[in-house]
Formats: sequence, C-alpha cells, structure tokens
Amino acid sequence: MNNSEIPRKQLGFFPTPVQKLENLTRYFGGLQIYIKRDDQTGLALGGNKTRKLEYLIGDALAQNCDCVITGGAEQSNHCRQTAAAAAMSGLECHLALRGEEPEEYSGNLLLDKLFNAKIHWSQLYRKGENIYTIAEELKASGKNPYIIPYGGSNKIGALGYVEAINEITKQLSEQKIKIDHTVFASSSGGTHAGMIAGKVLYNFSSGLIGVQIDKEEAGDKPFARNIIELANEVSSELELDKTFTQKDVTLRDDFMESDYGVVGYLERNAIKLLAEKEGILLDPVYTGRVFGGLIRMIENKEFSKDETILFWHTGGAPSLFSYSKELT
Ligand SMILES: Cc1ncc(COP(=O)(O)O)c(C=O)c1O
Repeated sequence: MNNSEIPRKQLGFFPTPVQKLENLTRYFGGLQIYIKRDDQTGLALGGNKTRKLEYLIGDALAQNCDCVITGGAEQSNHCRQTAAAAAMSGLECHLALRGEEPEEYSGNLLLDKLFNAKIHWSQLYRKGENIYTIAEELKASGKNPYIIPYGGSNKIGALGYVEAINEITKQLSEQKIKIDHTVFASSSGGTHAGMIAGKVLYNFSSGLIGVQIDKEEAGDKPFARNIIELANEVSSELELDKTFTQKDVTLRDDFMESDYGVVGYLERNAIKLLAEKEGILLDPVYTGRVFGGLIRMIENKEFSKDETILFWHTGGAPSLFSYSKELT
C-alpha cells in the first residue's frame, strides 16, 4: 500500500526545523552537529508521538471508534500527546498509568488531566499491560475503543517515522547538508523501525544510531528483535520488497547508567550543556540520555573530525517540571 492512501489526521506542524548547533559545534571543535526539532511538532508541547498519532488517530477515526486507550509511565509523553490528539479529534481518552494517584499532578500528568483523559491507575504496569482488559470493559459498557499500544509502536504508528525520513531527506537536500550519523532515542521501537524502513524507501544515506533508554527485563524479547520485526511489518505494509535483519539495527545499550526515568550524571550534564550552550531543552528520561550518550561518543572519539551528526530531538520537556530536585 502507498502510504499516501493510509488514513491520517493532521495533528502537528511539519516540517519541523533542522538547525545547526553552532555553539556546540564550536565547543566540541571539529565535527558538525545538527538538530532535528521534533520537540517542535506542535501537538501539546510537541514530541515524536505527534507523527505516530497522525496515523493512529486517522485509523481510529476511519474505524468509527469513539474512544482511545493507551498506557505508560506516570510521566509518559506518549500518553500526554495521545490525550491531546484525542481531545482534538473528539474522542474520549483512557490512559492506564503506572502507580497510584499522586497527591500532586505535575509535568505530563497535569497535562493529561487538562486534556480530560480518564486515568486508570495501574500499579506496577508501566507499559500499558492492562489496556486490553480495559478495552474489554469499555466495550462491555457500549463503547467502541481503539487500542494504541505502548509508545504508539505498531506498524501504523511507525509510518509516522517513515514519513519523517521523507521530510528530513528533502530538507537536507534543500540545505545541501550531508549527515553521516543520526542519533535518537529508541524505546518502544516505533520511531526506530519507521526510520529504518524510511531510510530504504527514501534513500536516506545517514547511518542510524538508536540509543536504548530502557533496560530489558528477564523474559523480554530483545529490543533489537522487536525493532526488526516491526520494520519488517512496515516493509510489507508498504510493499518495500526488503527484509530487515540484525545488521540493519544499531542500538546502543551502553548509556543506561541509571534505571528508566532516573536522572544520573549522564542525563543531568547533557540537559545542562544543551540548555546553557544552545537554549534548547532536553527531557530527563529520553533525550537527556541520548544526548548524554552522544557526548560520550564524541569524547571517546567514535566519530572522525570531518563527520556530521544529526541529533534527532524527540521531545519530552514537560516532564522536566517533575524533576526539579534532580536538576537543581
Ligand atoms: C521524548 C521521547 N523520545 C523518544 C521516545 C522513544 O520513542 P519510541 O517509543 O518510538 O522508541 C519516547 C517514547 O515515549 C519519548 O517520549
């Protein structure tokens, strides 16, 4: 299927800017550093989920659903953006969030509330493990729910990042920039899988370096395997005639010095450096870790001096407001 035939609801502002990080380029002295501003996708303070949700909400509307259900951590960016997308589209939004109702609503959780999402406090479930049960309950009460998996990562959501590669390829060609390595956060895998498929579809010449955010737990399918499987689903959906294998996935798992959602030196240093040198905000969970990883890679001289790097900013800044202790 051609991706222009797939239902899509416009939710964001595209293309997002590509900018050179002039001060950081000078600071590191040598390689050129660019940034792709998917923190500026517009929907509810921006982030990568806007791109996925354009396809997911498009599909929900095409199926005449009246509500959506998804899940994640208490400070989930995906849930905040889903709640906003649902509000824009006249759909009720149900969120299964880890933990118990806190006394104070802050960061993304505060925004979920403002978008009038119905929150199902889900104790230890951090990845929406119970959304299928909640969907059954919603059906039993007469509703027609649309299930959005954890992180919006299925073959529909991943199409957003296939298109993102189309967008960046055009921008780089217009601006006459050649990127050697693109560095980004890889967690539930939809962003990464979409980029891998988009790279083939749109002949994007840059290498793709995903930085793993979340440790694999015992019994988890290896993250790289998930990404390959999802990229292959996208490949058959778009009739790409390409089977992806392990060699198509670069997933760096060496920057998880702290647990998921825990800010350590790596993240704090990265957040402060980008804020102080460029006036750009990273987030504590995803992009802070990725940028910290990128700094490490530069310091370890993993890139040569004449190379050009694109840091793909995937958003998340609203959760900064629930990390004031760790960041001051
Ligand atoms: C700010 C931010 N960046 C990156 C990601 C990772 O994207 P994906 O889940 O598609 O791997 C997320 C996921 O929630 C996110 O919130």
